[in-house]
Amino acid sequence: MTGKPIGIFDSGYGGLTVLKDIRLALPQYDFIYLGDNARAPYGPLSYETVYQYTLQCVKWFFAQGCPLVILACNTASAKALRSIQQNNLPLEYPDKRVLGVIRPTSEVINDFTSSKHIGIMATAGTVQSDSYRIEIKKFFPEIKVTQEACPEWVELVEGGKYRSAEADMPVKLHIENLLKQDKEIDSVLLACTHYPLLADKINEFMPQGISVITQGEIVASSLRTYLESHPETEINCSKNGVINFYTTGDAAHFNKQASVFYGASVKATKIKL
Ligand code: DGL
Repeated sequence: MTGKPIGIFDSGYGGLTVLKDIRLALPQYDFIYLGDNARAPYGPLSYETVYQYTLQCVKWFFAQGCPLVILACNTASAKALRSIQQNNLPLEYPDKRVLGVIRPTSEVINDFTSSKHIGIMATAGTVQSDSYRIEIKKFFPEIKVTQEACPEWVELVEGGKYRSAEADMPVKLHIENLLKQDKEIDSVLLACTHYPLLADKINEFMPQGISVITQGEIVASSLRTYLESHPETEINCSKNGVINFYTTGDAAHFNKQASVFYGASVKATKIKL
C-alpha cells in the first residue's frame, strides 16, 4: 500500500478530541498525531511565535511524508494557518496541504442556532484574532457572535485538573461572563479543542436550554468531504488503519493523560524539534 499518514496537530492534548472523531469517520486511514506539549499553551503567545512553532511542527510532519496536515487547534488555525498557506506551501511544499478547524466549523454554525446568537469560548489568542467573527460573517452575516477568552482552561486540561474542584470557579466565571454579554445566546461553541475535556464541568454550569457545540464531528465530516473532493491529495494518504502518537513533552506523562482523553491506550514517542 502506498501513501503516507495524515498529520493531526495540536499544541497539546486537545487535538485528541478531534482525532477520536476523525478515526471514527475515517477508520481506514493512517494518522500521525503530534502534541507540542513542551510548549503548550499556545493561547497567550504572539502571532509570530504561534506561527514559528506551528510551522516547525508542520515541517516535521512533512519530513515524515504526510501529504496533508490538520491543525486540530483553533489557536494555530487562527494565528498560523493563513501564513503557512500563503508563505510556505506555494514555494517550499507545493504538493502538501494544511487545513484548520475554524472554517469548517464556521460553515455549519447556523445549524446549531435558532436565535442566531452564538457564544464562542476560546483561548485569548483565538478571541484576539477575531477569526470566528470574520469567518462566520462570510457565511451567515445575520448571526451575532459574542466571544469570551478562557485563559485558565487549557492549563487545567494540560495539568490533568479538568475534573478537580479547582476547575469549578474558572469554568463558572467564564460561562457567566459570556452569557451576560448577550441574553439571546442559544448555543455555545467550544472553540478550543482542549475544552471538550472539561465538558462535565461546562455542562454543570451551563444553563439548561443552551447547547454546547464541540468540533470533533464537524472537523471529521469536513475532512471526509475534503478527501472525497481532492483525489490528488487522497491518493497520497495511506490506508492501514494505523495511528502513531508523538509529543515534544514527556512520553510517559503523555501516555497517561492521552489514554484518558483518547479512550484507548496510547504509546507515544518523544521527539525533539
Ligand atoms: N487546543 C488549542 C486550541 O484549540 C489550545 C491552545 C493552547 O495551547 O492554548 O486553541
